[in-house]
Amino acid sequence: MQTSSATGTNTFADDVRRGLSSAPKFLSSKYFYDDEGSRLFQEIMKLPEYYLTKSEFEIFSTQTKQIYEAFGASGAEFDLIELGAGDGAKTSVLVDYFLEQNAVFTYVPIDISEEALHFLTEKFHARFPNLSIQTERGDYFRTLETFQSKSDRRKIILFLGSNIGNFGRQQAHDFFAGLRAVMNENDRLFIGFDLQKDPRVILRAYDDASGVTAEFNLNLLTRINRELGADFNPADFSHYASYHPIEGAARSFLMSRKTQTVSIKALNKTFEFAAWEPIFMEISQKYNLAMIEDLANASGFQIAENFLDGKHFYADSLWKPV
Ligand code: AVI
Repeated sequence: MQTSSATGTNTFADDVRRGLSSAPKFLSSKYFYDDEGSRLFQEIMKLPEYYLTKSEFEIFSTQTKQIYEAFGASGAEFDLIELGAGDGAKTSVLVDYFLEQNAVFTYVPIDISEEALHFLTEKFHARFPNLSIQTERGDYFRTLETFQSKSDRRKIILFLGSNIGNFGRQQAHDFFAGLRAVMNENDRLFIGFDLQKDPRVILRAYDDASGVTAEFNLNLLTRINRELGADFNPADFSHYASYHPIEGAARSFLMSRKTQTVSIKALNKTFEFAAWEPIFMEISQKYNLAMIEDLANASGFQIAENFLDGKHFYADSLWKPV
C-alpha cells in the first residue's frame, strides 16, 4: 500500500527530520513499505488476528455477482484501476468473474512497489492469460492524472484493504476530492472501510501474539538506518498499539525503552529520546456507515451501494460522482 503525497512533496529525509523534531515525535506509515515492509505486511494479512483481509475477501467471494452488477461492468469497455494493488488477491476474484461474463476491460494496478507490481503481473498473466494488464508504478495522484490523459474509457477505481484508514479525516477528504476531480459521471469508486466493532477485536489485529506487527513498525527504523545512515537500535524500541473507542482510531507507537540519542548522518543531526517517549507511527481509522456517507457527500460522491461481510466487520462502499 502507499499513501498519497497530496499534502506535500517532501522527501523521506525531510519527513523523518520533521517527524523526529516534532513534539510528540512521529514517523509516517507511508514509509513502512520498502521490500521488507511489504513482505511483513503480506505476513500480517495471513495472521489469525488480522480479520480485515478475511472480511473483505468474504465480501468479494460471496457477493461477486452483485458487485459486478452494481459496477455496470457488462456495459462499455472500461479500465479497472486498483490503487495500491499489493498482491491483488481480492481483485483476482472479481477479475475471474468479470472474464467469465465476457466483460471487456483492462486491469490497471497502480503501486509504489516495483516488486509488488512484478509479482502481481506474473501471477495474473499465469492465471488469466487473456487479461489485458497495464501496470503503473508510482504515486496515486500523479499516475491517475497521466492515466486520465492516456485513456478515455470508463474508469472503475478500487481502493481496497482499508488503506483509507491510514489517512487522517482531512487527508481522506482531500484524497477523495482529488479523485473526484479526475473522474467522470459514469466512473465509479469502490472503497474498503474497516468498521467499528468490539474494541478488543480491533486491538488484537494491531497487537498480534506472534509479534509480526511489532516487526513491521520496527522495520521503519531499520530502513532509516540503511537509507539515511542512522544508528537506531530497534531492540531499544517497543511496539505499542492502542484503540480509542470514541474516535474509532487504532494507533501504533514505538516507545523508546530508555533515554537515548540517535544520530542520522543524512540529516547531520542527533535526536534525543526520553525513557518511554513515544514515536507515533500509524493511525488505522475505523468507520461506521454514517461516517462513510458523510465522507462521500463531503468529497463530491453519493453512495450507490454498500457491501458488508456476514459479521459486519467491514464494508466495501461503491461511490458515484454527483
Ligand atoms: C495497510 N493498512 C490498511 C494496514 C492497517 O490495517 O492499517 C496497515 C497495518 N498496520 C498494522 N497492521 C496492518
